[in-house]
Amino acid sequence: MTEVAAGTRVVPTIAALRATLAERRAGGASVALVPTMGALHDGHLALVRRARELADVVVVSIFVNPLQFGPGEDLARYPRSLDADVAALTALGVDTVFAPHVDEMYPRGGAGGTTVHAGPIGSRYEGASRPGHFDGMLTVVAKLFGIVLPDVAVFGQKDAQQVFLVSRMVADLDLPVRIETVPIVREPDGLARSSRNRYLDAEQRRAALVLVESLRAADAAASAGPSELLAEGVAAFGDHDGVTLDYFVVVDPDTLLPVPDDYRGRALVLVAALVGSTRLIDNAFVEIG
Ligand code: PAF
Repeated sequence: MTEVAAGTRVVPTIAALRATLAERRAGGASVALVPTMGALHDGHLALVRRARELADVVVVSIFVNPLQFGPGEDLARYPRSLDADVAALTALGVDTVFAPHVDEMYPRGGAGGTTVHAGPIGSRYEGASRPGHFDGMLTVVAKLFGIVLPDVAVFGQKDAQQVFLVSRMVADLDLPVRIETVPIVREPDGLARSSRNRYLDAEQRRAALVLVESLRAADAAASAGPSELLAEGVAAFGDHDGVTLDYFVVVDPDTLLPVPDDYRGRALVLVAALVGSTRLIDNAFVEIG
């Protein structure tokens, strides 16, 4: 945790990554993994900073995982900016960037092979609109855990359902890795940072604020109970040209199931919407009652 990386190595193969990490581990170093799909923004960099606090060696993976994209989704146009990403990570003292080619990760193809099934929560919310997304996400995360063997892996709270499912997988499959969650990083006006924000034009960027505004309204109504909270949140979302609300739910953070109306205590509000053709998600913890 006191070491400063001399330079950032970009490693494209599993064998080379394993070799370099085995050496570091033999010297007593602990390892943190930050899995990403690149196009790094301040939200990712917050994960990396936390990883640096937690372990001696930080590995950031950059891999746009085809398995977690559906047929009509943005796999082909997903932003890719490896050089800029590596420069940002070097500035933060990251030791190793694992940037494999798709054939390195899926030499026999992906979908036809062994995959992780996300279970019932995987087909709700994001999973309902993006069938198979969480199976693909968990499959690559499980592979990365097997490749890197991290002591700790760092994820962002912005993808609340993702971090819930990764934690579930780790518990259910007894994987020896600790999951660390970092709070959402927001733009000054409140928009949650996302690699997909760069798809928004100026008008859509303004319209996108409705997600965080609806969460704020829900929070303000939380003391009145779940249905009031939902009613206020959805009302604050309102109707906007080019913005389609997908879901607005209040869930128990321990189960990710919708809370009953007599629920009191800490809850998580999840919202997703299409702004133009860009899918955005956001969430906030609230205290009900
Ligand atoms: O959150 C992401 O960027 C991806 O879902 C992850 C965890 C890197 C897996 O591809």
